[in-house]
Order: sequence, then C-alpha cells, then structure tokens
Amino acid sequence: MPFLYDPEDETTQANPYPIYRRLRDEFPVYRQERLRFWALSRYADVHAALVDHQSFCSSRGLTWDTGAAEQAGILPMMVTTDPPAHTKLRALINRGLTPRRVAALEPEIRMVAGEAIAGLQRAGGGDLVRNVAVPVPTAIIGRFLGVPADDRARFREWASAVVSGTSGAAFHDEHHRAARELYAYFHGLVERRRAHPTDDLIGSLLVAEVDGSRLSDADVLGFCFNIVVGGIETTTNLITNGMILLQTHTEVRRRLAAERELIPPAIEEFLRLESPVQGLCRTTTRGVTLHGVTIPAGEKVLLLFGAANRDEREFPDPDRLDIERDAGRHLAFGYGAHYCIGASLARLMGRVAFEELSGRLANCWIDVERGRRSRSGVSRGWEHLPIEFGRANR
Ligand code: HEM
Repeated sequence: MPFLYDPEDETTQANPYPIYRRLRDEFPVYRQERLRFWALSRYADVHAALVDHQSFCSSRGLTWDTGAAEQAGILPMMVTTDPPAHTKLRALINRGLTPRRVAALEPEIRMVAGEAIAGLQRAGGGDLVRNVAVPVPTAIIGRFLGVPADDRARFREWASAVVSGTSGAAFHDEHHRAARELYAYFHGLVERRRAHPTDDLIGSLLVAEVDGSRLSDADVLGFCFNIVVGGIETTTNLITNGMILLQTHTEVRRRLAAERELIPPAIEEFLRLESPVQGLCRTTTRGVTLHGVTIPAGEKVLLLFGAANRDEREFPDPDRLDIERDAGRHLAFGYGAHYCIGASLARLMGRVAFEELSGRLANCWIDVERGRRSRSGVSRGWEHLPIEFGRANR
C-alpha cells in the first residue's frame, strides 16, 4: 500500500501520530494529491516556514479548502493579512490587548469555571465539552469584547455556530447566517463605542494610534471575528485534551492537585503533545526547495504544528507526557509574525480551569469511548465527552 496522509480521514484524525512520524522520517516534503497541498512536518522546517513569511504568505487562506471563509463573506482578518500591513495592524491591536487587561479577567474566569464545574458536579456529571470546555472561553471572550450581560446568550449561539462552521468540513447556510449576524452585532457594538467612548477592549482599539494611523471599523470588526474563531474552540480543545491526558496519567494528576505551580508547565506540555490546532496552511509566493524537493510558487503548504511538536529531533522521547521538560518552544501557538496574540489569555484560561478541575479529578471519570471527536483535519479536540462524578479514578 502506498503511503497516504489524509487529514480528512477519520482514522487518521483519531490518531495521526504514527502517520506524522512517517511524514517526518520518510516524506518531509509531502504532496497530498487529492486535496492539492504540500505538508511540512519536521520542527525545523515548520519553524523556518513560519519565520519566512516572504516565501510563505498567509493572505491566500489558512486551509486547503479554498474559498470557505470567502464564501461566508468573512472580512479580512489579521491572521490572513501579510506584512507590512499586518505589522501595523498588529501593533495597533497590541495597544488594546494589554497584559493588564488580560490579567484583569482572572476573577471572572475563576467564577465562570468554578460555577460550570460545580454545576456538573451537582448533576453527577454531564458533557465536559458543552458544560465546561465551551462555556468558559465563550463567556470570557464575550466579556473581553465587552458584550453586555443581556446579549451574552445570543453571542454564545452565534459564536458556537460560527466556530462549528469554520472548523468543520463545510460552511453551511446556518454558519453564513450566524457569521453575518455576528458581524452586524459587532458593528453595532463598534458604533456604540464610537458614540460613547469606553475604556474596554473595543473602546481602546478605536482610539489606538501608531505612527499617526488608527484602526478602521472594518479592522476592529475583523479582529473581533478573529478572536471568536481563533480563541474559543482552541481553548476548548486545550481543556478537553488536557483532561484526558490527566485521566490517563494519574501520577501527573496527583502532582498537579498537590502542587499548583506545576500547572503552567503541564499546560505547555499538553499544548505540545496534543496541539489544539494541528496545522495551518501558507501559500508559496516563489519556488521553495527543501530536502531536494521543489514546491512551486502558488501552492498551499500545510505546516503541521502537531507533527513538529512530536519531532524527536527537537523533543527527546516526544510521545511521552513529561511536565518537567522544557516544552515552551512548542509551535502550538505558531511562531513569528502571526504568533498567537491571545496566547497569554489562553494560558490564563487554561491555568484557572485546571486549578479548578485538578482537585476534583480523583473523583470523576471521562468516558472517552462514548465521546465524539471533532471531525476536522486541523482542530484536534472533542465535540462531546461524557463525564461522571462520584466515580473513583485512582
Ligand atoms: C489554546 C488556545 C489557542 C491556540 C492553540 C491558538 C493557536 C493559534 C495559532 C497556531 C496561531 C497562528 C496562526 C498562524 O500562524 O497563521 C494563532 C493566532 C492568533 N490567535 Fe490564537 N490560539 C489560542 C487562543 C487564542 C485566544 C484565546 C485568542 C483571543 C484573544 C486568540 C487569538 C488569535 C489571533 C487574533 C491570532 C492572529 C494573530 C496574527 O495574525 O498576528 N487565540 N493562534
């Protein structure tokens, strides 16, 4: 049987790691004929491509499925803008996304996570995805954007419809509609902030200035949309993937419950081992030769973060969960110009969620067998994960 890597294949999605190993060892520059993209899987190659945005551009889409986002009428976002326009946009956005503004969310995250977990516990169990891993980032991103309390239920509905549309195989009418409604809603928020300036995130983005330039309304709208599609499902995946790793590594779970300072390094290791975004595409702007193979200009190239993060050339014994290793240089947040601008918020949400969860884990059981994985070639996570409390997991 000839070797085949197909990210849309369900068996591959369940366990892509043996295939990634073969890609790294035997096909470091792999050609996927059916989906018409190339794939890079070694850490050094993925890292180099992320840095070289002149040869590998982002503006022609980040998946092999061309046109899905465009058809949905999604405005250009920072993540699909190339330097130099991107550099200016990012500098302006950074003015609003300050460490102080992120840190201020901690009490809210603790409250939302604590309530969600307590509710699950009272009910004796439920769905870890729907009851905890989705509501926490959705509520926090809504709060971060300044969505008023009365609008949060609507925001949650649109956000989950948009997120399921961008991560799934196809973008359906309901996703288009949710995307349009979310835009219209953000538009209203922006107009209200213009009329009555506030010092929340959107308010501060509207007045941010770098070298005499400001963000347009479309830039701010694009950013709001970007953090909905980029910040919710990814954080959901971090929480669910980490929880499963802790269930299967009882020694690590016990240590985290006793020594909370180990939670941040453990989160880096979860991100390395089970990267929430397994890979994103770039498009070559010129011919690029690697390992003796030339990728022509204008081709989609999938940068496999999930494979790079398990490259034994970079991380010894890469398939082992080791919270003491120096995992911080993983590529789960990308690298270079587009390095995740929400990484500190993602880490904060992850830390607080695991602080709230780790003490209760001895007393619960996740039924992975009855769970349902996300059907996506790039998003590694779960759509449904039954969890039961009151059942010893020692
Ligand atoms: C564990 C959670 C997260 C993961 C794994 C993750 C992953 C990533 C990755 C891989 C990129 C790079 C994209 C590229 O190179 O093309 C990225 C960019 C980005 N992320 Fe995240 N992300 C997470 C959470 C968040 C959160 C919470 C936010 C919201 C504040 C966010 C907002 C963004 C934005 C706006 C970009 C684009 C940055 C740019 O183009 O300069 N992400 N993220």
